[in-house]
Amino acid sequence: CGIIGYVGDDDETLSVLLDGLSNLEYRGYDSAGVAVGGDGLRVEKRAGQLDALETALDGDGGAFAGPVGIAHTRWSTHGPPTDANAHPHTDASGRVAVVHNGIIENYRDLRDELEADGVTFASETDTEVVPHLVAQELRRGRDPEAAVRATTDRLEGSYALAVVVAGTDALFAVRHDSPLVLGVGDGECFVASDVPAFLERTRDVVYLDDDEFVRLDAEGWTVTDAEGSVVDKDVRTVEWEAEQTGKSGYDHYMLKEIHEQPLSLRQCLSGRIDELDGRITVEELDDLSDHETVQFVACGTSYHAALYGAQLLRAAGVAANAYYAHEYATSPAPVSTADLVVGVTQSGETADTLSALREASRRGAETLALTNVVGSTAAREADHVLYIRAGPEIGVAATKTFSSQLIGVNLLTSHLTDRGVKRRRDFVDDLRGIANDVQAVLDESEAAAVVEEFVDSDAFFFLGRGLDYPVALEGALKFKEITYEHAEGFAAGELKHGPLALVTANTPIFAVITGEGEAARKTIGNVKEVEARDAPVVVVTDGVAEAGRYADHVLEIPTTDERLAPLLANVQLQLVAYHMAAHLDREIDKPRNLAKSVTVE
Ligand code: G6P
Repeated sequence: CGIIGYVGDDDETLSVLLDGLSNLEYRGYDSAGVAVGGDGLRVEKRAGQLDALETALDGDGGAFAGPVGIAHTRWSTHGPPTDANAHPHTDASGRVAVVHNGIIENYRDLRDELEADGVTFASETDTEVVPHLVAQELRRGRDPEAAVRATTDRLEGSYALAVVVAGTDALFAVRHDSPLVLGVGDGECFVASDVPAFLERTRDVVYLDDDEFVRLDAEGWTVTDAEGSVVDKDVRTVEWEAEQTGKSGYDHYMLKEIHEQPLSLRQCLSGRIDELDGRITVEELDDLSDHETVQFVACGTSYHAALYGAQLLRAAGVAANAYYAHEYATSPAPVSTADLVVGVTQSGETADTLSALREASRRGAETLALTNVVGSTAAREADHVLYIRAGPEIGVAATKTFSSQLIGVNLLTSHLTDRGVKRRRDFVDDLRGIANDVQAVLDESEAAAVVEEFVDSDAFFFLGRGLDYPVALEGALKFKEITYEHAEGFAAGELKHGPLALVTANTPIFAVITGEGEAARKTIGNVKEVEARDAPVVVVTDGVAEAGRYADHVLEIPTTDERLAPLLANVQLQLVAYHMAAHLDREIDKPRNLAKSVTVE
């Protein structure tokens, strides 16, 4: 989602907010809204793209003059895109308005408590608890700043919040595990989830750290820490070119999205691991029946997540298979009411996957959509839905949604196989650490330097076994999608049954080898086979099986649970594909002939 807040000239507030929303539309575009404060408080919000809000404001804009305002463009995580669920959210008296990014994990408890006190809710969102809590604190006699602080003390989860209170010419904002940046202009100030929101008006920014609180008013801005002590912050000048702005300074959306993975993974896990006993609990799956067999249907990158998911489930004793959705739709596997059919689709709109899900449902199977888009067709049609919460993905080549799908199928596996049983502590610890591990890969990857050597190669092959096999397929798919070079992924053991004929000194091999089991040992054997044919070898590994000894180059990943290591290896391969494509000067975000979501069969 995107947030912008403004304090400055009364007559400019609305236009600054709307411009900001239009600059942020890539962060979410299923609904939008504004609130302008000062003496009173005016709110307008609409489901749909920004023009729906602009139309609603047409002719009425004059009423939205005031020294302070907030606005939001939404990417749903709780509740479908409707007018009521759009931000800003207000309390019952319309005195407090709030915009929010993130997820309030304890919103259910807070909502129950407020409802018991007689508060009526207007939306299904987690956010709405915030304005009601602030209003409650105001009624208890606190001033607006103290009311917002007291409210944030009660929130668990992730949030970037901006709050305006009627009768106050100030704006209050705070962040916890969700980005928020301050813009310092000439006689005006901004807060936003992302710099592009206000870049047309100022390049001077202050990056807020976790749990910092900022107050903006006509006098300027003050940042304080959680205890209320003033924090000295540096003002930095952003040097981006205009065309980099929507990309937060990155050259491409794809690279930005690769770097967003630590955040999107935290978001995916948020509220799904019990803080106290480490149990994995996925509320959305509570009504799922018990199943002994699971069939996955999916296409493209999502199919690779499905293959990985099927293996995870099989390893946990559940008969599971992954099918290409387009094949399944015309020649389905036998399926009955005892089966669960899972459609993995980031967009929730892929026609092939929808057909397969409908076919399975017609045959009586229970269906589940694993998707990123709240209210998408798959989400609406399936019996159950598990959201991966990766946030909007603009690059056609899927990156952060794939990582979140891998976590999504882990959550599903835990749910189906450990219901009620406490998870092994180690796995949960590693799951909690996965975002930091991805960050370490991003900080230390040598992929850019490695690929430079291979620019003039004939073809690129990717190998893996077991859980590393879907990653080899995904590595090759990403590579071919954006570099236009010939790339293929193989099950490492299959190499000797045919593809080995293609291997020469001019076909680099990327071997994914994680963990220390039999799979790793056998893949090392396959690496030796290609080396004997003079092929250059890059091993992507956690080092556990000492596979690096057999490689020309090593792309390292941190050690973690063997179920999670493939996710980290995949981040290295995302960077391999990206840097090769950048080197070849390809259209990275919009590769030729491809579409983000394919709605024809
Ligand atoms: C298209 C995209 C792929 C994507 C596939 C499935 O082909 O180009 O990147 O993996 O659709 O999309 P879905 O939205 O169902 O995950």
